[in-house]
Amino acid sequence: MLVFHILAAGLLAAVATAAPYGRRVIPKQRSAGERLVFAHFMMGIVSNRQSALDYDYDMKLAKAAGIDAFALNIGTDDYTQTQLDLAYEAASRNDMKVFISFDFNWFKPTSSASDVGSLIKSYGNRPAQLKVDGKVFVSSFTGDGLDVGQVRQTAGADIYFAPNFHPGQTPDAGSIDGALNWIAWDNDGNNKAPKPDQNVTVSQGDHTYTAWLGSKDYIAPVSPWFFTHYGPEVSYSKNWVFPGDLLWYNRWNELLELGPRFVEIITWNDYGESHYIGPLSSKHTDDGNSKWVNNMPHNGWLDMAKPFIAAYKAGDKSPNSHIVEDKLVYWYRPTLKSLNCDATDTTLDDAPNPNGNYFKGRPDGSDTLEDSVFIVALLKEAASVSTSSGINNKTFEAPAGASVWKVPMAVGQQKFSIQRNGSTVCAATSLRDITDVCPCGLYNYNAYVGTVPAGQPDALDADGLTGLKAGLKVTTCSAVSSR
Ligand SMILES: *[C@@H]1O[C@H](CO)[C@@H](O)[C@H](O)[C@H]1NC(C)=O
Ligand SMILES: *[C@@H]1O[C@H](CO)[C@@H](O)[C@H](O)[C@H]1NC(C)=O
Ligand SMILES: *[C@@H]1O[C@H](CO)[C@@H](O)[C@H](O)[C@H]1NC(C)=O
Repeated sequence: MLVFHILAAGLLAAVATAAPYGRRVIPKQRSAGERLVFAHFMMGIVSNRQSALDYDYDMKLAKAAGIDAFALNIGTDDYTQTQLDLAYEAASRNDMKVFISFDFNWFKPTSSASDVGSLIKSYGNRPAQLKVDGKVFVSSFTGDGLDVGQVRQTAGADIYFAPNFHPGQTPDAGSIDGALNWIAWDNDGNNKAPKPDQNVTVSQGDHTYTAWLGSKDYIAPVSPWFFTHYGPEVSYSKNWVFPGDLLWYNRWNELLELGPRFVEIITWNDYGESHYIGPLSSKHTDDGNSKWVNNMPHNGWLDMAKPFIAAYKAGDKSPNSHIVEDKLVYWYRPTLKSLNCDATDTTLDDAPNPNGNYFKGRPDGSDTLEDSVFIVALLKEAASVSTSSGINNKTFEAPAGASVWKVPMAVGQQKFSIQRNGSTVCAATSLRDITDVCPCGLYNYNAYVGTVPAGQPDALDADGLTGLKAGLKVTTCSAVSSR
């Protein structure tokens, strides 16, 4: 189901554009104990999980980072309830919380209210179910037009319903308790990267939602990246980016200012759109994303989020007092924008394009990304941060706390270190060089994320690599991880 996720989003963004941005509404700020952080978890790619044990690692890792609950995105596949059972069981074993996020690309808003209510009834009283204000918490992806009254009636329990409805499509928010805004990337109002004269920022979305919700609770989105690159080797061909670069850092800072009651990380494991912050080793099947996901860990983004999550929950506007160890988190694309992959990329062939999501060659929107290596320093005390990207090297005098730096990308090794008083505190060379060879023949605009000190190796397993070779035009790339 994940591959359809964003189809509807264009519509939403377009609708959001019409809303009155002039009106600045300060959302109701919540005290520390009431704030919760969720991570969107795609159940559509975990049909290969065999037992609750297969969910343990995700649960432990998310909980350790301060994430309170997984939003379990479900469609109507035959394995959905089997996997929900396992996820609820694993969550309770790990003292985590979960809730269902109904994906209305699959549930039909106009006819599925009683099915939705019945599922809430089946899971709402399990130990791991997230409850908010004593009510069973339920969310969605899209779903405007749903008969919320019938959902509540069928659920047979008090529910806290915070779906991803849209101000333009559901003008009266009276039937809901809160809402999720999905649009975590600056965009053009039509589900693609912004243009200079057509630019709807994430923060404008916050204003639209909070104005609409009034005193009801807002689930604010935060996402690190967006890149998708499916060619005609699958039936859901699509190829574009949204602005990434420093989004993950900037948006967390924005959220500390905004202080909504809820934050949702988009996503834990949607590899196909490259906005995962969970590990590559989180067990999943391959919908064709492994071409640009293999050897591209994002764990460092979860590390970066930790002090921000702690600050958000404490009601602080800065992560600085929540930094407990010196760390650098860095990220970059594996190749420069100037590299031409037209001869070998999978998206140069024709593919059906019913939604206008398929672009040939360089991903649409790639001009909104910089050729930079980005570095977030999380420091207990001021230090020198030295970085070198190929022949480009720079040293920054970084203050105590969180700060952000960048170096122009260059082909070669990527090295990073922290020094104090002339001696090296820690240093690491990235496992992935920037190269002038198209990876697997492709325009790969996913990000490689690393840390100093280096984290544990993280790799896709065989199930996560099954689609790697489909459609590839080079023979130099095999379905194995080099980690
Ligand atoms: C969109 O607006 C934001 C905020 O002003 C700005 O940072 C960004 O560069 C703009 N994007 C484009 C493509 O013009
Ligand atoms: C940085 O570049 C300069 C000039 O190329 C070189 O002398 C120096 O050793 C480099 N430093 C590092 C840390 O790579
Ligand atoms: C580094 O040097 C400064 C002054 O030169 C000193 O105050 C500080 O204690 C030193 N820090 C360490 C970790 O040695």
